[in-house]
Amino acid sequence: MRRVPCGCGGEGDIWLVLLDLVVCGMFLRNVDHGARSGAWTCREAPQLYHVRQIDAGQGKVVARTSSNYVYFLSGSSWYRLGSTTLKHVSVGPAGIWGVDTSNRVHKYVAGNFVQSSGLSMQQVDAGGDGQIVGITPSSYSTYCLRSSLALAYRAGSLSWSSLSRTMRYYSCGPLYGCWGVDSRSQVYVTQRITPTSCGATGWTQVPGLTMRMVEVGTDGNVFGVTANGSVYQRVGISHARPQGTAWVSVSMCMPISHLSYDLGQLWVVTNSGMLLQCSH
Ligand SMILES: *[C@@H]1O[C@H](CO)[C@@H](O)[C@H](O)[C@H]1NC(C)=O
Repeated sequence: MRRVPCGCGGEGDIWLVLLDLVVCGMFLRNVDHGARSGAWTCREAPQLYHVRQIDAGQGKVVARTSSNYVYFLSGSSWYRLGSTTLKHVSVGPAGIWGVDTSNRVHKYVAGNFVQSSGLSMQQVDAGGDGQIVGITPSSYSTYCLRSSLALAYRAGSLSWSSLSRTMRYYSCGPLYGCWGVDSRSQVYVTQRITPTSCGATGWTQVPGLTMRMVEVGTDGNVFGVTANGSVYQRVGISHARPQGTAWVSVSMCMPISHLSYDLGQLWVVTNSGMLLQCSH
């Protein structure tokens, strides 16, 4: 029997029987998850079917569905962005960027995605202070695109700067640097990354849990997803201690596959493709 790691209304027994994901979504509405998880309250986000990946930054929210189309949230409606299919999308100060299933990098320009030439990337992140970071396929090398190039890019080749580390997942915020997860699911933070030069210093291993992915928000909040789909927030982050002090569990109704945090909203994608919006 599947265990449901959820404080949803304290009706744990019911959940062992009723694993209807939609019901779980409705149940989440306005239900307090309790103090241990920092009292996050989740509800169903504006409905988009078969979500696989989400990114939120600077008030904008983009999502990728199982059809690999990218959608943008406005009010309570989702609008498809362009006609290009992507496997990962990211939004931030340097615009909307993504990679397709052939690992080509795209930027959203004048209402559609423009494919760049230059290095292939399996994931890019636009959350930094104007710079873009990326991970190459198979070798998992990390690269950075300087803010001047990223902001002005509209067509042609991209000139990436190498970042000396290999990572499986990489996410940047403008405040406290970038967070990455390596092939052993160990978490790292770069204490400083200079957007104009892509200089990165002070890779620090974050002790504690291993993660499948870690995302850092615009305000420096950091959330991670473990291999079993549990969600944790990294607490105690400051300029003096960018790696923070501890992982605190954020209780979820269902196993989570992806998440993103921006401006007080935690967006989580369940393994079944449902999108939840949590705040506290
Ligand atoms: C998931 O893994 C974490 C450690 O990574 C563990 O503390 C937690 O109990 C696990 N949750 C489930 C539902 O197995």
